[in-house]
Amino acid sequence: MTNDHSQVEHLYPGPVPPWQQAGAKFVWSPYTQMKTTPLPIPVAATEGVYLILPDGTRLIDGMASWWTACHGYNHPHILSMVMQQLQRMPHVMFGGVHHEPALRLASRLAAILPGDLDHVFFSDSGSVSVEVALKMAVQYWLNRGVTGRSKFLSFRHAYHGDTTGAMSVCDPINSMHSHFKGFLLEQFTRGVPHTAEEFAELDRFLRERSDTLAGVIIEPLIQGAGGMKFHPAESLARLRTLCDQHDVLLIADEIATGFGRTGTMFACEQASIVPDVMCVGKALTAGTMSLAATIATNRVFDAFWSDDPARALMHGPTFMANPLACAAANASLDLFESEGRFSRVPEIERRLAAGLESCRGLRGVVDVRTKGAVGVVQVAELHHVEQLRAAFVASGVWLRPFSDIVYTTPPLTISDAELTSLCDAIRAVMAQWATW
Ligand SMILES: Cc1ncc(COP(=O)(O)O)c(C=O)c1O
Repeated sequence: MTNDHSQVEHLYPGPVPPWQQAGAKFVWSPYTQMKTTPLPIPVAATEGVYLILPDGTRLIDGMASWWTACHGYNHPHILSMVMQQLQRMPHVMFGGVHHEPALRLASRLAAILPGDLDHVFFSDSGSVSVEVALKMAVQYWLNRGVTGRSKFLSFRHAYHGDTTGAMSVCDPINSMHSHFKGFLLEQFTRGVPHTAEEFAELDRFLRERSDTLAGVIIEPLIQGAGGMKFHPAESLARLRTLCDQHDVLLIADEIATGFGRTGTMFACEQASIVPDVMCVGKALTAGTMSLAATIATNRVFDAFWSDDPARALMHGPTFMANPLACAAANASLDLFESEGRFSRVPEIERRLAAGLESCRGLRGVVDVRTKGAVGVVQVAELHHVEQLRAAFVASGVWLRPFSDIVYTTPPLTISDAELTSLCDAIRAVMAQWATW
């Protein structure tokens, strides 16, 4: 079996619009071999859970634009708040400046985040928020006069972003480590522990290495782009206990899981833990703009609180706390308060589980699993990837299978009928794929 890219020239069956015809050769797409890739689908507009193509075709977005569009697209409340902010002040620097959208958002995040995660550092993307978390953890120890603690423990199948520090804590095998050996910092990797023996091994490791470790970083409950692997809340709770016992900082990367995806506002809530540092992004602005944040507890923040300027956190992205993005995030939090998103997630999970179950028997499918509003069909080997993507488009859904998984993270506003269409399309296309 091969990845037979050449069989698909365009994912979009309609006429290529002139702007795509003219501009395509000037853009470089993410994670893409530009020579062999088919032309991407042109999207002209969005609405609710739909991507609308230039010929009017509507695709259910089973990806919610990479986990972001939690309230669906073009929600009138978000549009209106962003529009008002656009007229008042699209942007102002955050160095030496405060503005209402950011301060309101910071205080609202502090109120909904677990425990005393009260100190919000804004940045412009998830990867950068991870960089900030790593720097915070390293400097935390230095500011306390402890030297030599600059390494991190992360987990197999982890994904924390594509910038250099973030890449160093991704799974070393299924990420880009092989491309960038010698360039990336060397970190420690273990499997996410489940069994008593695995916890005993982690306990031993932390005992031996805690004097070199700044922290442990984990995606709570769902490891996303590294393979859509799930772990129980209990693993997270025990990890928190071990980090406490060995005095190692725990960083929770909730960039994918935050804002309702697992059925609670943050996945950490299900394990009743408070990490020392948390990263959020993606659905923070409900898919309208790029914004992320790294949030620290009092304990971490206090290590930077000093009369000594050298103990300040030395980071400051140009577009940090962009007022438009903060207005979108505030509007999104309004919707979490006024529209029942969390009660909807268990129903989405139930329908995804039922709808995808019959993929289990298909040739090449090795697992089907769901957690919250995430559904995964895992295959032994993902062959004919481009044909598969094209077949999904032809069936009226937008999905982006990769690695060894076909997965969906639909908007939390998806209706029962739309979920049925999404699951029916996945089932039908996977049944075809199994014969290729
Ligand atoms: C868990 C996790 N961390 C970090 C990132 C990186 O975020 P961004 O793509 O906004 O840089 C992602 C993106 O997929 C993610 O899923």
